[in-house]
Amino acid sequence: MKVEIKAGTCRDTAQCFFVLFFFCSVLIPFPAAAGPYTLSIHGSGSNGVHRSSITGYSVGNCSHCHEQHASIDGEEPSPMAGSASAFTLFSDNFNDTAQTGPYAMEDNFCFYCHIATGGVQSGGGITNYQFCITFGGYTVNSATDVMGAFNLSSYHNLYDIQTFAESKFTFFKPTSNPCVACHNPHLVKNHKDNPTDSAYTTISRPTDHGELWGDDANERMSNYTSYRPPYYYGSTTSYEPGGVALHDGSQTTDYNAFCLDCHQYEVPVSTSGLNSMNPTTTSGHLTAIDWSSAGDMHGERPRLFDVGGGASSCTGTIIAPYNAAPVKSNYVLSCLDCHDPHGSVLASGGRTSTYLMRKEINNNKVDGCGPGVQNFCESEFCYSCHTNSHAGAQGCFTCHYHGGKNINCSGPWTGPNF
Ligand code: HEC
Ligand code: HEC
Ligand code: HEC
Ligand code: HEC
Ligand code: HEC
Ligand code: HEC
Ligand code: HEC
Repeated sequence: MKVEIKAGTCRDTAQCFFVLFFFCSVLIPFPAAAGPYTLSIHGSGSNGVHRSSITGYSVGNCSHCHEQHASIDGEEPSPMAGSASAFTLFSDNFNDTAQTGPYAMEDNFCFYCHIATGGVQSGGGITNYQFCITFGGYTVNSATDVMGAFNLSSYHNLYDIQTFAESKFTFFKPTSNPCVACHNPHLVKNHKDNPTDSAYTTISRPTDHGELWGDDANERMSNYTSYRPPYYYGSTTSYEPGGVALHDGSQTTDYNAFCLDCHQYEVPVSTSGLNSMNPTTTSGHLTAIDWSSAGDMHGERPRLFDVGGGASSCTGTIIAPYNAAPVKSNYVLSCLDCHDPHGSVLASGGRTSTYLMRKEINNNKVDGCGPGVQNFCESEFCYSCHTNSHAGAQGCFTCHYHGGKNINCSGPWTGPNF
């Protein structure tokens, strides 16, 4: 039989719990049947969910995450929440008092397994690297598990995501998990072991939570006629994702559509001292990103000059692979060419944040302003893909930021700066 857990399978919470009760208690042991859940990595019978404290349930069974009445056979197995948790999960879904990081394992249901050591998954831990490593080929780990990535200095704030998602997306409940704004735990696939194939995507758009995003051919960066993926680390002949020769975007998920489900809006930010670089943004928020032809030049707006630079004293060049034939007139970049989705390291230079910036971009390790991963020059970030003629080490983001316009360099300037 087909087990479908999609938006629409059940209409409201009460009915969903009936569905859950039905599957968990009537269909034990879990049927080895086709369906989206059994095709997911969590539902995999070989390397899916497997909580070491419970016995009698096959690997991949729902019961490794869900418990009826907070118990199995009248006793509550580890970890003990002490009372029934939302969605019949084995722990509280998200600790609402954790308004900023660093996070502890107990703050988030997912961290009980997505932690390198000391977790409840059989074997004790799950290794997950940052995006620039798994997909970009970089080799220096800032974090080896998901909790560690969210505990880096610049991170997607889980409380703010929960608040924002609840205000915008109807599937998202007050007790929903912030990770679930971006991932559907019943659908996620094994992308880290198949980085060149986005059919193994792990994400779902918050506007379409019941489906995976990136698995279909029309959900890829090849939707934009002039996307060119960055080089894979250590190579000038292979590209992201995962070091492939093909570089038409057909193997990369359309991350822009995904991120813009939220970032087309101004989003609330509660981390103290974290302000938008864009002075027109509402206080307490980050700026709304406009990636359309009327917005940023790294998005669909065509650039003004040639890749070799223009006449103004403030122009620069755009380097390989973007200057390689056939040079396209309007490259559209992916958000994840520059950003890491979970977390990144904070830099020196007086900024409040590094805004989830990747540590490695286009075969360039972004550093240059001192020892250690914490230190990088803003110019080094840009030099991953550019040269320029108004050199300096820092201060680039005060003129070059999302939505920045009409900010002079050394003479009159009318038009976008980013
Ligand atoms: C990896 C852990 C995990 C596994 C395995 C899992 N679930 Fe869930 N499930 C969750 C989480 C987390 C939520 C809460 C979603 C949220 O935060 O909004 C949830 C919510 C639900 C809901 C409420 C509606 C919804 O989709 O949000 C139902 C019904 C459900 N699960 C059924 C199942 C069934 C049936 C299985 C096995 C076929 C299963 N789950 C396996 C983690 C899991
Ligand atoms: C803002 C959206 C967003 C949020 C919130 C988010 N993720 Fe992710 N996550 C992503 C994206 C994008 C990827 C890239 C993977 C891909 O393309 O399949 C990813 C990748 C992953 C991976 C695979 C990493 C690897 O090894 O390659 C795991 C595991 C994961 N996320 C778990 C979590 C958990 C647990 C949380 C909550 C603590 C979370 N995510 C919150 C967007 C998000
Ligand atoms: C009971 C343990 C358990 C829990 C709880 C759990 N996961 Fe997982 N998760 C796994 C296992 C096991 C895998 C597959 C093995 C691996 O990734 O090494 C996995 C894989 C994933 C992947 C795919 C990673 C990749 O690219 O291969 C994502 C994404 C993910 N989990 C997200 C989540 C999110 C989001 C939550 C919370 C809603 C969650 N998981 C809760 C055990 C768990
Ligand atoms: C060319 C590299 C690059 C690309 C591509 C890129 N960003 Fe950024 N992003 C930056 C830089 C640099 C900053 C810091 C300056 C600033 O805040 O705008 C930043 C900052 C941000 C911020 C904080 C904005 C604020 O208010 O200060 C958000 C949100 C963001 N990016 C989201 C996105 C999204 C969503 C996409 C894809 C649609 C994207 N970025 C694509 C480089 C990039
Ligand atoms: C579910 C909604 C949602 C999605 C999807 C989402 N974001 Fe965010 N993002 C937020 C919220 C809310 C904040 C503000 C809280 C914070 O500081 O993290 C934020 C903050 C950011 C920041 C600034 C973080 C900092 O602390 O400096 C960047 C950069 C960013 N997002 C990039 C992205 C990129 C790239 C993607 C796609 C991979 C993405 N976001 C997807 C909701 C979302
Ligand atoms: C991942 C590569 C990448 C990074 C990193 C990057 N850029 Fe770009 N940038 C491009 C590409 C490619 C274009 C051309 C876009 C087009 O064709 O429309 C571009 C276009 C521009 C333009 C418009 C040029 C024109 O002719 O109008 C400016 C200005 C610019 N970038 C500044 C920056 C600054 C400043 C930084 C650092 C904060 C930066 N870029 C980081 C790849 C990048
Ligand atoms: C005082 C404002 C200002 C500062 C600070 C600034 N720039 Fe610029 N930059 C400009 C203007 C204006 C342009 C020309 C307009 C354009 O190309 O969008 C420009 C153009 C560029 C371009 C040209 C892109 C292309 O392909 O033509 C690059 C690259 C660039 N800047 C990098 C940097 C870097 C790196 C820094 C920090 C060391 C920096 N800028 C600091 C205002 C500034």
